[in-house]
Amino acid sequence: MSLTRKKSVEGLLKQAADGEKGLKRTLDSKSLIALGIGAIIGAGLFVRTAAASAEAAGPGVTLSFIFAAIGCAFAGLCYAEFAAMIPIAGSAYTSAYCTMGEMTAWTIGWALILEYALGAATVSIAWSEYLNKLLGGAIPYEWCHSTLQISPEGVHGIFNAPALLVLLLLSLLLIKGTEESAKANSLIVIVKLSIVILFIGLGWQFINPANHSPYLIPEGTIGHEDFFKHGWGGVLRGAGIVFFAFIGFDAVSTAAQEAKKPERDMPIGIMGSLAVCTVLYILFAHVLTGIANYTEFKTAGKEASVAYAITKYMPGYEWLATLVTVAILAGFSSVILVMLLGQSRVFFSMANDGLLPKVFSELHPKFRTPYKSNAILFIFVGLIAVLLPGDITGDLTSIGTLFAFVIVSVGIWIMRVKSPNTPRPFKTPLVPLVPILAVIICSAMIIGLDHVTQIVAFIWMLIGLCVYFAYGRSHSKLS
Ligand code: ALA
Repeated sequence: MSLTRKKSVEGLLKQAADGEKGLKRTLDSKSLIALGIGAIIGAGLFVRTAAASAEAAGPGVTLSFIFAAIGCAFAGLCYAEFAAMIPIAGSAYTSAYCTMGEMTAWTIGWALILEYALGAATVSIAWSEYLNKLLGGAIPYEWCHSTLQISPEGVHGIFNAPALLVLLLLSLLLIKGTEESAKANSLIVIVKLSIVILFIGLGWQFINPANHSPYLIPEGTIGHEDFFKHGWGGVLRGAGIVFFAFIGFDAVSTAAQEAKKPERDMPIGIMGSLAVCTVLYILFAHVLTGIANYTEFKTAGKEASVAYAITKYMPGYEWLATLVTVAILAGFSSVILVMLLGQSRVFFSMANDGLLPKVFSELHPKFRTPYKSNAILFIFVGLIAVLLPGDITGDLTSIGTLFAFVIVSVGIWIMRVKSPNTPRPFKTPLVPLVPILAVIICSAMIIGLDHVTQIVAFIWMLIGLCVYFAYGRSHSKLS
């Protein structure tokens, strides 16, 4: 049946070994951890933490982080097995191609567009907001907001110019080369980590224990009547919100073909970046909700919450607020960079397989990067960033990612049963328990997202199927 035709793992490994024609193997495990952290710490931590505590979880947002991290860890272990076994660019998609067949692979590739392309758009929109904050609101509202946004004063947005600018600069950097991009990324990661650690270290002494009590929002609190807005239900909703903060660790797997020793570097890169970020997130959330009360993140501290908390409750540390804003801008840039990198590598693999036009896999003669793909992607992501608000793109990013996690986790199990003898340099422990737990936790987070997001994502996936039947199926190299 052509819909379930599969690629052979052996053929893929041969393709990866063909270093002359392929992407360059330049990334070691340290670069991969940095790549992961570069993709992970961003708008999720600096924007969504406060939002999740204000909307649903209260100070218990730390527990939301733990819940989301457990789901990501289980899914991450599954990703690591695939990424080490099939070290080809665009790994989740490729893994699905080997295990569950072409149509599922297509579906996952299509879902990954939601994750990477819309993720990049979402963070570029956040970047634009913070740039304007740093400039003291110098950019007129209409030129840094989408047409769908209206300011409290009634000004309509026209065009999000800063979002487009940052996407352009980073796309050019990516065309120049992965090695260069990884170096730039490593620098940014250092700045980003330093700021997070500095905030935790300096802020700790300003924690007011009263802000942590009660730890979960009590039932009956006005504005929190919904089950998912107080108590443990709120912690669950909070997990769905802060899940965005973890998106990106799987981006490490999309660079598998550029890893020096994928069998060792992939698991270290994926789990290492996830572990570092989880610890920092919990500490960060603990300090943030300890310095300011979560209720303030609904009102005065709704925007730029971290800077708000510092300015209001940490006298003498106003400089830290400015520094945090600068670091956030740099941090967002690296997130966008890795998202764009991930997306172009998924397209690269899909085009190599004939499921997308060849233009997506053409490499630059000198830089050996998929430059045409990067350029097309810039136009696509740029249009989204310019025209849509960040909350819509953000939720779609989450649902696309969770869906990909579910398919990858199922794939590990299927592969173990169907091809038990394929060499596995890294093995997910406790199969099928770990994949099953990954599926349950990630599905719970999908169900927790709002209905509009679910419907739009469903329509997106239907469009994907139409494109597959109209183009991919007949052009596939396997056909
Ligand atoms: N995890 C990334 C962020 O928080 C997507 O910005």
